[in-house]
Amino acid sequence: MNILLSTLLVVLFASICASSTLLADSNYGASVWNNTIDLGLINAGGLVKIKLANIAIPYPITTSSPVLLIEAMHVVLINQTSQQPINRDAVIMSNLQVFTQGDLVLPIMTFDTSNFVNPNWFPSGYLLEARDPINLVINLDLLEDTEVSLVYYMNCIVPSTEPNYFPLSLYYSVAPKNSRFSTTGTGGFYTKTFMFNWKWADSAIMSIQGVASPGIQSLILADYNTNQVYCKSVGLYDQSGHLQSMAPCMSNTVLTFRQSQQFKLSALYDNSEALVSVQANMLFYYGLSNETFTATFN
Ligand SMILES: *[C@@H]1O[C@H](CO)[C@@H](O)[C@H](O)[C@H]1NC(C)=O
Ligand SMILES: *[C@@H]1O[C@H](CO)[C@@H](O)[C@H](O)[C@H]1NC(C)=O
Ligand SMILES: *[C@@H]1O[C@H](CO)[C@@H](O)[C@H](O)[C@H]1NC(C)=O
Repeated sequence: MNILLSTLLVVLFASICASSTLLADSNYGASVWNNTIDLGLINAGGLVKIKLANIAIPYPITTSSPVLLIEAMHVVLINQTSQQPINRDAVIMSNLQVFTQGDLVLPIMTFDTSNFVNPNWFPSGYLLEARDPINLVINLDLLEDTEVSLVYYMNCIVPSTEPNYFPLSLYYSVAPKNSRFSTTGTGGFYTKTFMFNWKWADSAIMSIQGVASPGIQSLILADYNTNQVYCKSVGLYDQSGHLQSMAPCMSNTVLTFRQSQQFKLSALYDNSEALVSVQANMLFYYGLSNETFTATFN
């Protein structure tokens, strides 16, 4: 099932990207560009951290256009033995962070265990700025020794092709840091709720991804006062009951968060057994809203 799902997502990704970037594509040819990196043998039984400096990007950055604009990115871990995506059931933890210009503190994009298979792409007009060189950091904890390759797909343009784009930032943690919790195991569902305020100016929000642990049923992000639901991400399980991914919320929708708006994130966990150190979080990308952008840059 995971293979089918990944294949489907790659196809979906390719078609989405192809349709959204026809104009920009004339700059460098193919709409979706891919590259493969051999990560070698990853041994089971512990966290393995791999840093990849100066990863290849779709075209050479020239000094006249030092900024690369990422429209979409998708990463797939390939099992070299089967030449198929690695079996998610053998993955305890997987995480990939994209860093720009040698910065290893704040990633510009991140993929986590529960959303690793989800392509990341942005609606037209919104782009993620990256500066050469781009670095990747991969964390992997596997249940069996595996020869792994990383395949990454990217869609990028240069600013001259879209001068009025909205630059995006990654917002990682809706719940407070270190906010893992345990469930009681008393049957039914266990609900945990976190609140947060949007501290920034009115913003455009997109590409919301659920971050959760096995046992999750759904994550819901809603306005605290009106209960309007902004994102519901459900856990997708295979036939043997292993969490494969959190379904993306509203793939191509741009939402608006207002300054000081109050939100709540509710996690619904299967409470048939007590779970320890589970998480409930969301990550997404934000840019200035339409109105703010115009006011600031006119
Ligand atoms: C890119 O993807 C195609 C189709 O899956 C594959 O044939 C090719 O080897 C890939 N290129 C690299 C550099 O990974
Ligand atoms: C990798 O592929 C081999 C051969 O199909 C399989 O036996 C093994 O379980 C796979 N491992 C993972 C982690 O996908
Ligand atoms: C900008 O605002 C206008 C009107 O308020 C709206 O129709 C349009 O969809 C917005 N565009 C973006 C990119 O948010």
